[in-house]
Amino acid sequence: MSAPHFSAAFRQELEQLFIWRRDVRHFRTDPVAESVLDGLLHTACLAPSVGLSEPWRFVRVDAPERRAVIRANFAQANAQALTGHNGDDAQRYATLKLAGLDDAPHQIAVFCETDPTQGRGLGRGTMPQTTVWSAVMAIHTFWLAAAAQGIGVGWVSILNPAKAALALSVNPNWQFLAYLCVGYPQEQASTPELERKGWEYRNPARRRWINR
Ligand SMILES: Cc1cc2nc3c(=O)[nH]c(=O)nc-3n(C[C@H](O)[C@H](O)[C@H](O)COP(=O)(O)O)c2cc1C
Repeated sequence: MSAPHFSAAFRQELEQLFIWRRDVRHFRTDPVAESVLDGLLHTACLAPSVGLSEPWRFVRVDAPERRAVIRANFAQANAQALTGHNGDDAQRYATLKLAGLDDAPHQIAVFCETDPTQGRGLGRGTMPQTTVWSAVMAIHTFWLAAAAQGIGVGWVSILNPAKAALALSVNPNWQFLAYLCVGYPQEQASTPELERKGWEYRNPARRRWINR
């Protein structure tokens, strides 16, 4: 197979994908076709991983009772997070929608098998966290691939990870990384919702190199 040539037009479209990929919290309830979800998982698995260890474990959460436990976990963690803010800040935090758990038709928990046999330990002797970083790269690949098909992904991290892992009855050695809400977004936007709500803004200083 010969390597593809990526045209300037493709690169411009790819840049648009990066610009329009959003963390989505407002979902339509109609499902994404199973074949499309399978395709996203296959694409996510093209992510790089330390020693080719592929330590990501994508867990579909469909059972209503498990979803309810995660929903309650989020409500508790979010209420706790609110107590970390005061005055105007607390009022503003309370208005933010920080998960699409009620509407997203698909929910996917992502774990990392932190000490997998696959990869035979290559590359992670000095930095064992590299397995987690690898799994996060798969999440990002999934996120971008979804955005390319008009599918929204919302990363929910406001959860007690130990309780979330317990609720999903997975291998106790897997580390809970992310809970993803997946579905078609109610709206598209080229800027983060947190910016649109006045909570935080992209900082142009981050686009400058630090030189040493
Ligand atoms: C590791 C990680 C955890 C996140 N957790 C949450 C979360 O719990 N709730 C939420 O609403 N957004 C969460 N986000 C989304 C960020 O708020 C979002 O990426 C950021 O505001 C930039 O917006 P954008 O992704 O639309 O560009 C998370 C993102 C990352 C990468």
